[in-house]
Amino acid sequence: MLPVILAASLLAPAAAGASEPNRIVARGDGIIRSPVRQIAGSGPNLRARQNEVEVQNQRFGTRYGVEIEIGTPPQKITLILDTGSPNTWINPVCETANLPSDCAQFAQFNYEKSSTLNVTDYVDTLRYGIGNATVQYVSETVTIGSATIENQIIGIALESHKIPLGILGVSPPILGVNEYPYILDTMVDQGLIKSRAFSVDLRGVDNPTGAIIFGGVDTGKFIGKLAKLPIIPQDETPSGADRYYVTMTGVGLTLPDGSIVQSEELAVPVFLDTGATLSHLPTRIFEALAASFPDALYDADSGFYILPCDYTDMAGSIDFYFAGKTIRVPLNEFVWQNGAYCILGVSPEDQEPILGDTFLRAAYVVYDQDNRNLHIAQAANCGTNLVAIGSGANAVPSSTGQCTELPTPTGKGNTLDVTATRPPVGTFTGRLPTGMEGGPGPAQSGPGGTSVTGGALQPTGGSGSGENAAERGIEVGLGAVVLGVVNLLAWVL
Ligand SMILES: *[C@@H]1O[C@H](CO)[C@@H](O)[C@H](O)[C@H]1NC(C)=O
Ligand SMILES: *[C@@H]1O[C@H](CO)[C@@H](O)[C@H](O)[C@H]1NC(C)=O
Repeated sequence: MLPVILAASLLAPAAAGASEPNRIVARGDGIIRSPVRQIAGSGPNLRARQNEVEVQNQRFGTRYGVEIEIGTPPQKITLILDTGSPNTWINPVCETANLPSDCAQFAQFNYEKSSTLNVTDYVDTLRYGIGNATVQYVSETVTIGSATIENQIIGIALESHKIPLGILGVSPPILGVNEYPYILDTMVDQGLIKSRAFSVDLRGVDNPTGAIIFGGVDTGKFIGKLAKLPIIPQDETPSGADRYYVTMTGVGLTLPDGSIVQSEELAVPVFLDTGATLSHLPTRIFEALAASFPDALYDADSGFYILPCDYTDMAGSIDFYFAGKTIRVPLNEFVWQNGAYCILGVSPEDQEPILGDTFLRAAYVVYDQDNRNLHIAQAANCGTNLVAIGSGANAVPSSTGQCTELPTPTGKGNTLDVTATRPPVGTFTGRLPTGMEGGPGPAQSGPGGTSVTGGALQPTGGSGSGENAAERGIEVGLGAVVLGVVNLLAWVL
């Protein structure tokens, strides 16, 4: 564990980074690309296996990681890509992670070996759906793909609970105000990208390497035109938190015979969170989707529906409707496979609905923070064609993906009633196996930590969040569900 570093104030470089945007001359082509990989929640050998077992285990793929380099000389570190939180931090304390050995398989940053580290005396606790991390902020050189960001403020964990990997945060500031320049802000300030916008392509279970592209769009990774969806203004979101919220206008299924079942028109705010392993949807929608699988069994311990794994070989999809775009998530992407059991990738959430990885595997999404839009299309893979995102109102090009259209559903069948209450038909009596590790869940807009008065680093939160938001935060996201499962399963690894 990192001892508390007592240090001279680091406020100077932080202020410089924020107030002298032209200090570093623009370089490169304004596009920064880095692979995003599924991280299986199992032992260290798993990733080396090139066989059927590995492919099968990709369905464990419960988190998405980006490898970045930190310090001088650079040290390679894997972080969870999180569109649900703004802070970037490293070095979780493995002893208090859910699965300590899972945590320990990843390299930790050794700050003593870096010549570019500058520490601050600013400490804060970051809270997530699943756990928390108390970090001390430092400024460091951070390299992502081909781009080197200088004097980026990141946290180094002094203490952390239940979180096995550090986090690369790319959300807007949850309370609407930056605490300090986050990674995206610094990339723009230092001329590495032209606007605070990036694309994420998580890719499917059988092709686990996707990408994040800061400042660019890859038209070889989606089908049809990107649909532009306004990000819901902070004061209109369900909890008053500024997240990547858009309006979902319907849900449904495409059945194996190609006919569709579709809800009435809805207006459900949902936020897109790469750090959430599952999707979390309003209870009536959750029940209606589960009831579409007549042999789904409810597991009261975890709150999940368990499905026969045969569904992962079946044609058909779970469909999500937005203004101008339908994303069809193939059944094998929506199901979370854990050993012999397959879990329907959704849980009930009425306060802050989330579309997590079980949705994002099928969507290509451009997150445009500057213009407050998301642009989405059905994900596919038909090559690579990078297009830069510029600046200004039309920064994100209205690109058309180069991949082939999916077959059109054969027609509308029944309406999916998402208003009825549906108790579970069958109950699961087995025990889920172990070895699962989920993403962190969304950051909470809880009260901030120790402040340094008058400096560039300001405490987060405090105002307007209060106990209710903090309490609600504990219930949302992955926290409750994954903890339930992990407890149930015991720590075996
Ligand atoms: C740390 O910050 C000081 C003050 O801004 C700066 O002069 C120095 O170069 C920084 N050190 C490193 C190693 O970046
Ligand atoms: C972090 O989580 C742990 C374990 O749930 C808890 O005991 C601790 O109080 C939390 N710390 C903070 C500062 O919230």
